[in-house]
Amino acid sequence: MYDVYAVREDFPVLKEVVYLDSTATTQTPIPAVEAMVEYFYRYAGNHGRGAHRLAREATNRYEDARETIARFLNAEPSKTVLTKNTTEGINLIANSYPWEAGDHIVTTVLEHHSNLLPWLRLQKKGVKVTIVNPDSKGKVDVSSIEKAFTEKTRLIAINHVSNVFGSVQDVKNITKLAHRYDIKVLVDGAQSAGHMPVSLKDLNCDFFATAGHKGLLGPQGTGVLYIKEPDVLDSALVGGGTVSDVDGYTYVLEPSPACFEAGTPNIPGVIGLGRSVEYVEKIGVPEIESHEIRLSREAAKRLSELEHVEVYGPEDRVGVVPFNVKGLHAHDVALILDQTRKICVRSGHHCAIPTIRFLEVNSTVRASFALYNTEEEVDILVNAVEGLKALVS
Ligand SMILES: Cc1ncc(COP(=O)(O)O)c(C=O)c1O
Repeated sequence: MYDVYAVREDFPVLKEVVYLDSTATTQTPIPAVEAMVEYFYRYAGNHGRGAHRLAREATNRYEDARETIARFLNAEPSKTVLTKNTTEGINLIANSYPWEAGDHIVTTVLEHHSNLLPWLRLQKKGVKVTIVNPDSKGKVDVSSIEKAFTEKTRLIAINHVSNVFGSVQDVKNITKLAHRYDIKVLVDGAQSAGHMPVSLKDLNCDFFATAGHKGLLGPQGTGVLYIKEPDVLDSALVGGGTVSDVDGYTYVLEPSPACFEAGTPNIPGVIGLGRSVEYVEKIGVPEIESHEIRLSREAAKRLSELEHVEVYGPEDRVGVVPFNVKGLHAHDVALILDQTRKICVRSGHHCAIPTIRFLEVNSTVRASFALYNTEEEVDILVNAVEGLKALVS
């Protein structure tokens, strides 16, 4: 197991606050920040657009980062598209796939808006959507997905880990099932990559979208989209960097990934992401996973022992602890935790209003754990929440 206190030295802000909001965005380690600073000081230039030394170096470093990220996810670099976030990746698929009126998509009530709205919007084009419910702990049963299939089902869009419950979906078996029916699968991996081992060759899903700024510890404005068969898509975004020829009224798209990366990309961000992925790799994803599991399950167990607290989600949660303090609004709880103990937690609907309604609440507090959190921080959280009893009784 790694030394969490040594790791914390790479995240200076952790000396100032108790950061328990890594499901929203993680902190970025010093080596990744330094890699970005080095880009600005030494070789800022555009990607793939120049013969001079700065443009060449920027291009090479960007492509090196792509290779690192692809290797980390066990995917081919040519199928690894760099985006600005998970949301952009999912929209890219929704808007690039050759839908026909009557096509059918299966998704779940557990989805973040980013993996729901792009499909709901396709209803305007005559695409039908079915939303499947999970069980009360936030797990989707494979058989309930199968029951939703029709002859016209083309895609299942499902989260890997729920950002509201912390539950893990059986995306490998869902993919196996879907492929038997010739249905494609998009996995929203915003909360899995970096938090648990993810091998895209092993998962075998058709599309996988994730963020650079969550479990991969990269900067905001970075994301990754894996496309198993890029040729079935007609890139939704075209422009500079996406074509090899333009002849009058026609153009020839570059092969993937270039055809999906229109315009100047986030070059420093991707370089920082490449470096943060190396950082995660060096610590070891299985070690990170067991650390986050241990802290989050301990926090959930101890919080659920408090009479005035209700904890949601399954016992085998990974990293995410949603809860409410009876009689207090989630935003008030979050504000008090911040003001009194400098504890940073998320509160609200977590960009998943249907999921929150499914839970029959209007909001929750969410404490989430990453590789840099400690047992002491679990104590601080539990003690602070325990102290709120005085406000509710
Ligand atoms: C499950 C899930 N999907 C999608 C997103 C959106 O991610 P991004 O902000 O990278 O677009 C999030 C963000 O919290 C998420 O948790």
